[in-house]
Amino acid sequence: MNLASLIAELHRLRDSALEAIGAAPDAASLDELRVDYLGKKGRLTAILRGIGDLPPADKPAVGAVANEVRDEVERALAERGRLLRAAALAARLEAEAVDVTTPGRTIGRGSLHPIVETSRRIAEIFGQFGFVVYEGPEIEDDVTNFQMLNIPPDHPARDLWDTLYVDVEGHLLRTHTSPGQIRVMREAAPPIRALLPGRCYRYEAIDASHASEFFQVEGLMIDEGTTMADLRGLLDQFAHAMFGAHRPTRFRPGYYPFTEPSVAFDVRCVVCNGRGCPACSRTGWMTILGAGMVHPVVLRYGGLDPERFQGFAFGMGVERIANLRHAVGDLRLYMDNDLRFLEQFR
Ligand code: DAH
Repeated sequence: MNLASLIAELHRLRDSALEAIGAAPDAASLDELRVDYLGKKGRLTAILRGIGDLPPADKPAVGAVANEVRDEVERALAERGRLLRAAALAARLEAEAVDVTTPGRTIGRGSLHPIVETSRRIAEIFGQFGFVVYEGPEIEDDVTNFQMLNIPPDHPARDLWDTLYVDVEGHLLRTHTSPGQIRVMREAAPPIRALLPGRCYRYEAIDASHASEFFQVEGLMIDEGTTMADLRGLLDQFAHAMFGAHRPTRFRPGYYPFTEPSVAFDVRCVVCNGRGCPACSRTGWMTILGAGMVHPVVLRYGGLDPERFQGFAFGMGVERIANLRHAVGDLRLYMDNDLRFLEQFR
């Protein structure tokens, strides 16, 4: 082959290579073209081999053109490769696009049981007056549940608490949270401001207003010079925080063996506001707790000198408070675990 036709052949080769590369649809076909033109058995390589047959004077000219063609084909391959990669990336970005402004799926949130929520609200209110939460055991002994609360064996007041016994050694399921008073007095030194929430048990026939399992919150304050006026003021603050700032309250005389004097604490009926309705037995008042000044016998069992320390105690049923807050009429609903009921407290 002569010089001119060899150079023409190189240019044709370049043109066909550039056209094919420009039309290559993907990285794999681009690779095939690379091998086809520049590989060991490639077309350009074959032509370059022919250079050996040329007269020595022509060799540099052909070599220069051949190098130029090879550079051009390599540049075209690289350029097309970049283009294809960019296009592939763009396609993938489009296919995998995430719309970060789409609202997320909502997570099903649980909620507190109304009894737990009410207990916490009670603790929160008394917490503002410095009361600290303690917990006593659910299995108590006879002595702490009764005797140390000034209810000796065979005392008729024991009939007030129909008791579930656990063994013959005097262990029982606590009938109220009051035995916690003794435990706190023995553990802590005055001034004491304690709140004792917890589950209690009684042997009861179950109906809308009686349960064999229920919750109470007990309060105990002991200091030097604590009076009934402190009790009255504190319970008023509690009633106002829980049932509204202007709700009237009253003390009525009551009886509990572990307090003297004892009172019942009433709030103006939250259903009828005092006009009289079935919910308040037409009295216009609802009793929310029992309270009184801690009996000297109880103070002594708690290891305290009644000549020096005085205090008050109170105890309330959490279900009763929850009923009034949420207008619930049947205690059994709290134990049923029926989501249709529980979901209303979210
Ligand atoms: N423990 C009593 C009950 O179960 C409630 C009670 C009344 C607690 C008066 C007190 C209190 O601390 O002073 O019925």
